[in-house]
Formats: sequence, structure tokens, C-alpha cells
Amino acid sequence: MPVARAIFAAIQARHPTTFARVDPSIASPAVSVVAAEDLAALLEGRADLPPSLRIGDVVLRLAESAEALVGATSPPTRGSLSGQVAVISGAASGLGLGVARGLHAAGAAVACTDVDAAGLAGLAASFGDLARVSTHVVDVTREDSVIAGFDEVLARFGRVDCVACCAGIAPAFELADFPLERWRLSLDINLTGYFLYGREAARIMQAQGHGGTMVLLSSKSGLEPSKANTAYNATKAGEIHMARGWAAELGRHGIRVNCIAPGNVFQGSKIWNADYIAQVARKRGIAPDEVIPYYIGLTALNRDIKPEDIANAAVFLASDAARCITGQVLVVDSGQVWSR
Ligand SMILES: NC(=O)c1ccc[n+]([C@@H]2O[C@H](COP(=O)([O-])OP(=O)(O)OC[C@H]3O[C@@H](n4cnc5c(N)ncnc54)[C@H](O)[C@@H]3O)[C@@H](O)[C@H]2O)c1
Repeated sequence: MPVARAIFAAIQARHPTTFARVDPSIASPAVSVVAAEDLAALLEGRADLPPSLRIGDVVLRLAESAEALVGATSPPTRGSLSGQVAVISGAASGLGLGVARGLHAAGAAVACTDVDAAGLAGLAASFGDLARVSTHVVDVTREDSVIAGFDEVLARFGRVDCVACCAGIAPAFELADFPLERWRLSLDINLTGYFLYGREAARIMQAQGHGGTMVLLSSKSGLEPSKANTAYNATKAGEIHMARGWAAELGRHGIRVNCIAPGNVFQGSKIWNADYIAQVARKRGIAPDEVIPYYIGLTALNRDIKPEDIANAAVFLASDAARCITGQVLVVDSGQVWSR
């Protein structure tokens, strides 16, 4: 260590604001020197400070501020998804945003995708960790947009380990009044969107060769239909069946595919907007401000389901704790539907 100190002193003589820290994780340091004179001679011919330096068995990481050094050497997150890259659709709002936050808190790098560019703006900063968050404007109904979005994610993070499909809509109409255009849009977003994300994920994960996970946000309405919800019931049931088929098909590649079937989640959801609540109130014959308590009261636990409850299920399904679980539906509804 005395030699290291002498060499460090030589660096500081030339770069007075230099900070250093012993970092055994560096396999190939930028410069190896054995004596302070060697380094002094080396620095004479260099404008830049080497970022790392081996002196005998000691490897130093160098930086021009203590803050940069701490950032460069802070230990990786030890969450259950540490090192994974997750792509989330519908991540600008509601459950998609909640799932993105949950996966991030569990250690994953999260690529938040959504068609809502304004909703994505500023989102990365709100995670407080720009190194493990990216945002991408993607329309899940358009093949070119989905492929371009995954290309961006690969360019940014280099891999994809988990895909969470959350972009969805729920137009509520009595069957006799259901506009064809809203039916078709539901199929496009809720089914084609999930299909395109699943297909891209399968292509990338198969090429990577180390497995992966897909988590599809279906709904309790995919198990037990709700009234005046034709397109939602059909597409949410379709997602479950699509996931089961993918689980059977992709298991040999180590890719697990599962669904979450949430009950009603009000917090942060744009589906549960004022118009929708008014429609539901009319359907149920109650006042709009009675709608949320009404639905909570239908659950066995009488408990309001929050986005983080759905996120916890997504983290579990994406993690190794669920390594033997595929083709399943995890119902997170505080106890409302009993079919699976
Ligand atoms: N909130 C609930 O009560 C509830 C219950 C069960 C299931 N779900 C499911 O959870 C998912 C999210 O619902 P939410 O309540 O958070 O809704 P939300 O409207 O708050 O979020 C949906 C997101 O999808 C995005 N989106 C819509 N069309 C898109 C497109 N073409 N391309 C890309 N993104 C698009 C929206 O911009 C929005 O950010 C849906 O799949 C929904 O079916 C919600």
C-alpha cells in the first residue's frame, strides 16, 4: 500500500481534485503501473486521468469527485429482480405504472412504454434512479411501433428478461348499444397489443437463450363476466387463454407466462374516470360517490385494492420464487370471484 499511496500522491500532484477507492471488481484496469515514477512519466504524456489503475495487487478506481466515485462503486440493488430488464406496456398510468414501480423496487431496470407521451414525460425522474429507468412512446396496436420500442430497449439495456402487458381499455356499453368501433379498438389494444408484446418477447428471449417471464394483466372479468362489458369480458378471457397457450409452447425455452386477474383498482386508474364511474352508477342505480364503496363492499375482505397489491403479484410471478409456476392466473381481488 505505501507504493499505492505514493502513486496516488503523484496523480494528485497533477490532478489536485482526484479521489480514489480500492475496487477489486475491476477486471481490466485502464493503466497498470509499478512505481510512482512510472506513473509520473505516464501522466506527463496524458491529458486525461485514467479511470482505473492497478498497482501490484491493488486496483484503484479514480474520479474527479467523491460523488462520482460513490455512484460508480455503490453496490448493486439486492432485490429479487436485480440484474433483470423488464418492459411494461401501459406504464404511464394506473396499474402499469404501479407494476413498473414494483419491478423497479425489486431491483429490475424498467422500460416504461405507453402511447401517452405526455404521461411518460418526467416519469423516469419520478423513480429517482435514471440509471434503471427508460421511457418509450409505443402504440401497442401497431407492429412497427412495438418492434421499434423493443429495439430501443435493447439498445438501452442490452437484454429483456420480463415483459408485463398492462395497456388496456374497458368501454362500458349495454350490448344493444355497443359501437362496433369501440369493440374493434378493444380487440386491438387488449388482444393484439398483448399478442405483439408477447411475440416480441418470445423472439428476444428465445434468441437470448436464458429464459424469461411474461406477466399479463387480465381481470376478474376474464374469469367471471361483468354486465355491460362485452369487449372487456371477451378480451380479458382471451388474454388468459393466450397466456396458457404461450406457457405450454414456451416452457421448453425456460419462459414462464402467467396472468394476474385484479379486482377493481381505483387509485390512479384512468379506466375509473369520472365518466366511467357515472356510467357504472347508472348501471347500478346508485350515486357516483357510492360507486367505490359499493365495489369494495362486494369483496370478502372489504379491502380497497391498491396498485402496489398488483405490483407485488407481478414481482412474485417475475421472480425465481415462482420458478415452477406457469400458465396460471393469480387473482388479486380481495375475495370477489371464486372461479379460476
Ligand atoms: N383498474 C382496474 O380496476 C383494473 C382491474 C382489472 C384489470 N385491469 C387491467 O389493468 C390494465 C391497466 O388498467 P388501468 O386501470 O391502470 O388503466 P389506465 O387507463 O389507468 O392505464 C392504461 C394505460 O394504457 C395506455 N394505453 C391505452 N391504449 C394504448 C395503446 N394503444 N398503446 C399503448 N398504451 C396504451 C394508456 O395510455 C394508459 O396509460 C388494463 O389491462 C386493465 O384491463 C384494471
